[in-house]
Amino acid sequence: MGIWESARKHPKLICSGIALPSRFARFPLSQFLIFRFSTFPLSRFPHFSLFYFSLLSIVDFPLRSAPFRLLRSRQLMTKVATPFLADADSEFYLPADAFFRANLPTALTFDDVSLATLYSEILPKDADTSTSLSDALRLQIPIISSDMDTVTESRMAIAMALNGGLGLIHYNMSAKEQVKEVARVKRHIHGLIQDPITVTPDQLIGDLLSMIEMKRFAFSTFPVVDPQGILTGLLSGNVVKDRYKTKKVAEVMTPRAQLITENEAAVAKDPITAADHFFSAHVGLNKMLVIDDAGRLRGLVTISDIEKITNELKSRRKPARDSQFRLVVGAALSPVRTASGELDRNKILSHVGHLVDEELDVIAVSTAHGHTAGVGDVVKLVRGAFPDLTIIAGNVTSAAGVSFLADCGANAIKIGQGPGSICTTRIVAGVGIPQLTALHVASVAARAKGVKLVADGGITKSGDIVKALSIGDAVICGGLLAGCREAPGEIMEISGKVYKQYRGMGSLSAMKAGSAARYGHDKNDSSQKVAAEGIEALKEVSGSVDDVLGNLIGGVQSGMGYLGAANLAQLRSKARFIRVSPAGQKEAAPHDVIEVSTRTSSA
Ligand code: XMP
Repeated sequence: MGIWESARKHPKLICSGIALPSRFARFPLSQFLIFRFSTFPLSRFPHFSLFYFSLLSIVDFPLRSAPFRLLRSRQLMTKVATPFLADADSEFYLPADAFFRANLPTALTFDDVSLATLYSEILPKDADTSTSLSDALRLQIPIISSDMDTVTESRMAIAMALNGGLGLIHYNMSAKEQVKEVARVKRHIHGLIQDPITVTPDQLIGDLLSMIEMKRFAFSTFPVVDPQGILTGLLSGNVVKDRYKTKKVAEVMTPRAQLITENEAAVAKDPITAADHFFSAHVGLNKMLVIDDAGRLRGLVTISDIEKITNELKSRRKPARDSQFRLVVGAALSPVRTASGELDRNKILSHVGHLVDEELDVIAVSTAHGHTAGVGDVVKLVRGAFPDLTIIAGNVTSAAGVSFLADCGANAIKIGQGPGSICTTRIVAGVGIPQLTALHVASVAARAKGVKLVADGGITKSGDIVKALSIGDAVICGGLLAGCREAPGEIMEISGKVYKQYRGMGSLSAMKAGSAARYGHDKNDSSQKVAAEGIEALKEVSGSVDDVLGNLIGGVQSGMGYLGAANLAQLRSKARFIRVSPAGQKEAAPHDVIEVSTRTSSA
């Protein structure tokens, strides 16, 4: 059968307007020809078409022999059709480089694109979300909480690391306070309350009742300590009652001699297991008091915390820890200057030295414009003095910016200028690049320089994280975490709804509190009018970091499952993109229904 006859009999194999005999595809030469020409617009080149068909006929000739005829079956046809279909996919769904080039000169962000699904053998729950920011710093999940004063202090950083991520402690506080915050994370022992609220033997129960009401404590059992911090008893909630208000703590507490305590050295390595055994062995006790050799109170474990933690441990990802089993933490560093405008090298080096003494894992040189002499000098300075410290630097949105910071010594580069939910840089300064195009351009330099990329800002849902990770190595979230109870700041109620404050580090109030240097201004310089590049806002309270990260990582794993990616390296290599029209964006969200629930998880 010749090719024309084939075309009549097997119309399914019509490709680019040319019918091809199914058996051709079994042979390397004919496959080569088919692939070579299937995307070629033959109708526009009649002479070339003639040559092409003659060539096919020559190839076809030996295939007419009897053994090959046997191979002509429907089954074979199905197999043969696959390359053509795959070819259609690769024509429409493009890998990152081809895709972003094809869309030039337009810059794109998360909602402008969608990822094409691929054959998969990966169940979402098995997708490995671990990533690294340097040889020394590995995270179990690729999410970092932003170094903003309404997002990350020690409480947020502890919660992030316990979930396998990383928190960057902001720098709108004194250098001393930032070192303390880092120390709190590094010394955190999960389950052990290291600075419990204590009372003294001579306090009146009536005074304690007022304190509980004023501070809104949800508990009324307190360890009793003397002025030297030595444990002298335990005040049970049963006696913190109005009827005993005129009595002193010493009169109604359980005295030290009757208390069962644990030594800090015995429980420090694994307080959760130690407490689990303690509560099983001492029926009826619901507090484990931890003391040192001198009898000083060193901590407290409650039975309700232990039960909560052991339940959570079953579902939680592994925490991100250093080689000494401590939680990992990062801190933001500002390029501080002397009164004469020079970089204050001594101050910077001494501060980083104190942070490193507390076993800081990563320093983030955080500015709005990282492709500058000043930021480069800070990175070089820190790299020179601390050769093993992981350095994140930014922000940039160009390949040249990435190369520059990599050459200065950064391990990971923050990408993002103006995508953040509270940012006004693009409006105020007229600069910045939509985030996905910026990430792609940056990735060209990152690959060449062997540095990691962190997508910073603009992430509003887990799908955005999947798209960012199809190019970069990790993401930084501000707004998504600012509503969590672990974020700094008071909860406020407005018309029955509860909110937390969330403000840009370039907002006027944040710059006054210290972040002016990040935007190239001086916070004490009242002679100049400072242009704010961020706003002050509110976020609805969104529960705990555990819940928020659980949802986000669940979404990331779903995305990886759809692309058949067992890990993030496979996600990057397999991702293929398509542009989404405004109608496609509308189609992507719930539409044409009346929503009765906006819950995204079963929790
Ligand atoms: P999201 O979208 O997660 O963004 O809320 C957080 C990121 O935004 C950056 N950031 C700012 N950018 N003006 C800006 O242009 C600001 O005032 C500002 N404050 C924070 C920062 O990179 C953060 O991680």
